[in-house]
Amino acid sequence: MPASCSPPDPPFPPGLELSLAPLALAHLEQVLAIERASFKIPWSRRLFLAELSMPLARDGVALQQPSGMVLGYICLWLVADEAQVHNLAVHPAFRGRGVGRWLLVSALREVQAAGARQVTLEVRAGNLAAQRLYSSLGFVQQGVRPGYYRKEGEDALLLGRALAGLPAAVREKP
Ligand SMILES: CC(C)(COP(=O)(O)OP(=O)(O)OC[C@H]1O[C@@H](n2cnc3c(N)ncnc32)[C@H](O)[C@@H]1OP(=O)(O)O)[C@@H](O)C(=O)NCCC(=O)NCCS
Repeated sequence: MPASCSPPDPPFPPGLELSLAPLALAHLEQVLAIERASFKIPWSRRLFLAELSMPLARDGVALQQPSGMVLGYICLWLVADEAQVHNLAVHPAFRGRGVGRWLLVSALREVQAAGARQVTLEVRAGNLAAQRLYSSLGFVQQGVRPGYYRKEGEDALLLGRALAGLPAAVREKP
């Protein structure tokens, strides 16, 4: 291997075999169940259906293999050279096992191959678990939208990073 090549990712988080698939109608019931368990103001079925017909969307699901169970999903759009992450959630029973990191990095690698050069997203100021995930992947704060989540008056933090040099999908633990 040339010295400039980085070693390949370990393929999956420990104890899990996953595949990344495009979000499809067949996944919708499982996705809605995860969505409702994950957010105070969940996306509706109608919103996911609109997302499925959106030409810019590059949405993906992490499927456990061989069962095909949906462990998480990501909704992202490819707008010119920018990937915009609009939604990301992992099944509550599978959190803290590396699925979110694997899904986010795997989906970003796919949009990078399709021409994306940077990624942006918004996260609630109080969502510290998600912020730790993003900062462990090198996202930095690029702005604040004060009171963006109007019901609670909570700020949205605007985060982003260049896609070049994205960290590994599976973190090697010592
Ligand atoms: C945020 C979310 C997607 C993370 O998924 P996950 O599969 O649990 O995350 P991972 O196991 O891949 O963890 C990756 C990193 O995120 C951080 N992290 C994840 N869960 C965390 C928690 N409960 N507390 C603190 N940090 C956490 C850690 O830095 C972790 O790295 P480490 O395990 O090496 O320390 C998941 O918690 C979730 O679905 N939350 C509800 C929906 C949500 O908030 N979505 C994000 C909207 S912006």
